[in-house]
This record gives sequence, C-alpha cells and structure tokens, in this order.
Amino acid sequence: MTDQTLFLIKPNAVQHKHIGHIISIVEENGFVLRNIKIIKFDCDSAGVFYAMHKGKEFYDRLVSFMCSGDTIALHLSRRNAVQKLRELVGDADPDKRKQGTIRSLYAEGITENAVHASDSDEAAAREIELIFGDLKALA
Ligand code: CMP
Repeated sequence: MTDQTLFLIKPNAVQHKHIGHIISIVEENGFVLRNIKIIKFDCDSAGVFYAMHKGKEFYDRLVSFMCSGDTIALHLSRRNAVQKLRELVGDADPDKRKQGTIRSLYAEGITENAVHASDSDEAAAREIELIFGDLKALA
C-alpha cells in the first residue's frame, strides 16, 4: 500500500540553497513526489499550520521563523511514508539527532531545523489538504 505524507523545506534551508540536495535525499530513499509548490507563509497561515503548538513556549519563534522566507512544500508517497520520512528527517532535539539525517546535515537550531515531516497519518491528511487541497487554505 502507498501512504502519503507532507514535507516542508523550511526558510533557512531554502535560503542556503539546500533544496536540490534535500529532494535528492528524499527520492533516493524511495519517496515519490506527487506535488510540489513554493509557498510564502504569512504569520496567520503559519499559525494555522502549527495550530497544535499554540501556547507552547516556542510557538511565537516558530511562527516568526516560518514567515521569514520561502518554504518548499512537497506531497510525498511511499510505503509507511510518515514513519520513514521522520526517520530520514531526524529528531527536532539536536541532542537526539542521528548522524546522516537531513536535520543533522542542515538544521541550525531547534526551531531553524531545515525541514518538517508530518507526525501521523492524520496530520499528513490535514497538512496535505491545507496546502494542496481544493480549499487551498494556505495558498
Ligand atoms: P516541526 O517538525 O516543523 O514541528 C514543530 C516545530 O516547532 C519544530 O519542527 C521546530 O521547528 C519548532 N520547535 C521549536 N522548539 C521546539 C521544541 N522544544 N520542541 C519541538 N519543536 C520545537
């Protein structure tokens, strides 16, 4: 069965021109690109995307970072997509990150961590709909 997930290349990785290498890593690990777009979050749309983190101590910094520049959004598929992409991305916490993960290569901090990957099938469905769905809530 083919599963779906949502992947973001965040503003710091876009600014440092890591888009091509990050997409190569994802493709080399069996993911199929279903859709892609450049988005420029404004602070309201970044707040909607990360609504589950509202009230946490890092929320304001996260929203401010996500609306600081362009983001590349990718709709990806492969078997067990959510788990496999999160393994490839690596932990948000720099102390827990494994070598060879995308964040070990390109993260610059716990917030400026280069990429985002959906954390469950439910989150993937929500995030794909927000960015690529008919409603295009964050277009
Ligand atoms: P992401 O995978 O996009 O999901 C939530 C984001 O919040 C995370 O990556 C980081 O960019 C940011 N963040 C900042 N501080 C923390 C933290 N302490 N724990 C988790 N995420 C954090």
